[in-house]
Amino acid sequence: MRLRVAAAGLVPFLLVALYWQHASSSAAGSDRALVRQQARDVALDWGPPTLSSKRIIDGSPNYLPVPNAEGPAPDDMAWRKEVSSDPSVPCPAGRRPYHTILTAQGSLYQQWQTKIFYYHFRKQQAAGGRCTEMTGFTRLLAGKPDELMPTIPTVAVPEAGHNVTRGFPVINRPWSMLLFIDMKEFRERIVERYLAVGYFFPYMSPKDPKSGGIAQKWLPDTKVADMPPVGPSPILIHVDLLRAVTPLWYELSWKLKRDPEANAAYGWMLEMWGYSIAAARLESLPFARLKIKHFVWQRIQIEPSAAWHQTLSERDGDWAPAVDPFIYHYTFGVEYLLDGSPVVGGKGTWSLDKRNYFGAAPPPDLKAPPECAQEAGRVWWGMFNEAIGNLTKEGQWYGRTGQSTRSRTSDESTELEAAMGALGKELVDGGQWLIGNEKAPLQFFRRGKLWTKWGGGTWRVTGGTKVHVARQRDKHAMKLWVPMRHVSMEYTGWRDSGGCKL
Ligand SMILES: *[C@@H]1O[C@H](CO)[C@@H](O)[C@H](O)[C@H]1NC(C)=O
Ligand SMILES: *[C@@H]1O[C@H](CO)[C@@H](O)[C@H](O)[C@H]1NC(C)=O
Repeated sequence: MRLRVAAAGLVPFLLVALYWQHASSSAAGSDRALVRQQARDVALDWGPPTLSSKRIIDGSPNYLPVPNAEGPAPDDMAWRKEVSSDPSVPCPAGRRPYHTILTAQGSLYQQWQTKIFYYHFRKQQAAGGRCTEMTGFTRLLAGKPDELMPTIPTVAVPEAGHNVTRGFPVINRPWSMLLFIDMKEFRERIVERYLAVGYFFPYMSPKDPKSGGIAQKWLPDTKVADMPPVGPSPILIHVDLLRAVTPLWYELSWKLKRDPEANAAYGWMLEMWGYSIAAARLESLPFARLKIKHFVWQRIQIEPSAAWHQTLSERDGDWAPAVDPFIYHYTFGVEYLLDGSPVVGGKGTWSLDKRNYFGAAPPPDLKAPPECAQEAGRVWWGMFNEAIGNLTKEGQWYGRTGQSTRSRTSDESTELEAAMGALGKELVDGGQWLIGNEKAPLQFFRRGKLWTKWGGGTWRVTGGTKVHVARQRDKHAMKLWVPMRHVSMEYTGWRDSGGCKL
């Protein structure tokens, strides 16, 4: 697994990656010459974006940077095979160095996340070798210069006032970008390239009648179906396009915030819709020289919770989270009981959530997830621990920190296990069972859940050797009092994952 960059909480971080020309202070000296040498716009070697034959899962069209972009060996990546290990050989033509812009504010909550993000950025930059395309980095800080300036390359701009945000601080994203594109620091640090690469968010689909309908109001000359179902975070975008879209992105976010209907419908997604509508608007504005087509590329990130998208090394379906994603986006907390059951819509005994750390950064050595936790929570925990461990060693972490990830040494799941008793444990751990004359097996799960061929049900030990079984699909909710006999056992390993039984 090669996760490239740690993480950005969705709100309020924006990760915009831009192609760039000049080496910044964070690029190695030897890279400087290589970057200059490739200052011409390599994107011009490729034709305009082509329409993919595959539609995005919501039916929206998708645009490709090169016609074989969705295949195993896209033409625009071919240069990577020619990288020489000899440092005196220049990097191959076709490389597209990019600059990463992280929008942030100066609160403690965003500072500690920025430190972790930048730790993993540097780590992956180094892992990419001398021809890495991850070259420059800028934290675009909305607010006063802060104590992170000496260790993290930062450009600070004034924070937007309430008259701009109306209490929605995320408007600082387009706001700070609007200021930045006119600054000499922007011209000094960044140049160009071509096609925007975005991530499909289901909640950004123009096919949704309510959200899409409101977007159509702001797209008088464009079909709303042509709006890209992406947000501005994360995105890889040509610097000319970023310049072209930012003023509209800001203007629309501003106006949407003041339109009661849009404000109510879009909520925390408001500036994301501002971006997508702005991208679609460029199509119809006669004075707009540049148009943006997005390549929706799901591998750019994964956005797990304990209940979904927990697998990073396997894939199930075209638009499912990709294998080996580049960014772990930790917008959702991951919550577990100690037996590895995910907790949805509440706090687990093991809990990792950025929102646990508004007032104090997470401490070093966060306690490990339960043994039966799924892959994503374990990866996220590992990346946090590694960054915090190293930042602590470098004297860059905090003296006062918040709670760890595990709140108690036992929980409902261990109490449940005790309550199940020896018979319950035998039922769960023993595999599948046949009862009486039935031909189809039953599978008992911890937490009193039952699986049968005809659907789910519940079970509980009611004392001694008696088990109360209720199958939901049985006509009159038939309940069986079964004197348990070990009639037959057939263990299939069903839903058994590495010795962890549900
Ligand atoms: C918001 O207020 C500031 C100062 O109070 C002012 O300079 C700025 O022009 C105002 N912005 C808008 C968009 O009204
Ligand atoms: C620092 O990072 C390295 C990997 O780059 C890791 O092996 C090591 O465990 C980390 N140190 C601490 C104290 O976490």
